[in-house]
Amino acid sequence: MRISRKMEHIHHALSLRPQGRNGLSDVRLVPNALPDISLSSVSLATRIGELNLSSPILINAMTGGAQETEAINGQLAVAARETGLAMAVGSQMSAIKDKSMRASYQVVRKMNPDGIVIANLGAEATLEQALEAVDMISADALQIHLNVMQELLMPEGERDFQGTVERISRIAEAAGVPVIVKEVGFGIAGEAAARLKAAGIQALDVGGSGGTSFAAIENARRSRPLQALNQWGCSTAVALLECAPVYGNGGMIASGGLRNGLEVVKSLALGASAAGMAGLFLRLLQQSGLEGLIRGITEIKEETLLVMSALGAGTVQELWNCPVVILGETVEWCRARGLE
Ligand code: FNR
Repeated sequence: MRISRKMEHIHHALSLRPQGRNGLSDVRLVPNALPDISLSSVSLATRIGELNLSSPILINAMTGGAQETEAINGQLAVAARETGLAMAVGSQMSAIKDKSMRASYQVVRKMNPDGIVIANLGAEATLEQALEAVDMISADALQIHLNVMQELLMPEGERDFQGTVERISRIAEAAGVPVIVKEVGFGIAGEAAARLKAAGIQALDVGGSGGTSFAAIENARRSRPLQALNQWGCSTAVALLECAPVYGNGGMIASGGLRNGLEVVKSLALGASAAGMAGLFLRLLQQSGLEGLIRGITEIKEETLLVMSALGAGTVQELWNCPVVILGETVEWCRARGLE
């Protein structure tokens, strides 16, 4: 059951179109005709909590846990190595339950021995399982994913969400590596961000809607789809604006439907320190192979550098002070929530 689910997720993620809007078309960067900077001095280096990265772009958690996923993870890891990106693996619970699945995750470390590799588990994980996941791939950090609507839509999914913050907090205290709490595409709002911050969580990936939708993916797997729920969640732009007051000072990652370097820079200008992409990289790999993926990532990095230069921002931190204009539905949301 578990094994075929991994491949079903990949199949549906590739065949379903991104759902809704990521909200970043409502975010406009104010041009700077006098940037007073040289392109060669612009640095992509960034820091998420205690984790130093040479690029703000990361390959977000996707897969592992089935025989067929080993080749995908291996290719993603080579692309990460060749472009200097950090990479997260998919949920490792299947390999904790079945040791024969470990190779499909460990290939990522094997292909990229010196890179930044991030472990991944769901919020149901115990501290012992978290330590095992980190150890399995000699991870530099651990992502704990939140995916309530996905679990609810999965017939075999979790039904009891009590005690999540306490469990994550215990893991963060003892994991020995930085812990990043992430959504998978439904978005994190300010109230949840504040609870996680108070519980000692250093870094948050807002995981907003507008890209891969796990509601649509689970509906495609259900015998009785509940299609109205495909739109569940808040956009990536909204999630960034919701979480920035709590995590905007060095602990926030943007993700959910990001498509290019311009959207990466918009996310960083809203206060993020890094930007994750999953579905886009999977699609590039499927359509254009490893070389196409590497080319795509290189283009996104170049776009990011060019936009930073055009804004006169030499570092990710300088982007936080660049003026942005928020329009449309996104500014209406901010007004209604008192986020101005
Ligand atoms: C995912 N994602 C994911 N996230 C996670 O924390 N653990 C996981 O095991 C998975 N598995 C997974 C499989 C596949 C096939 C995809 C495409 C994605 C979610 C992913 O990390 C990300 O949060 C969302 O996909 C939203 O980003 P994009 O795809 O819109 O860039």
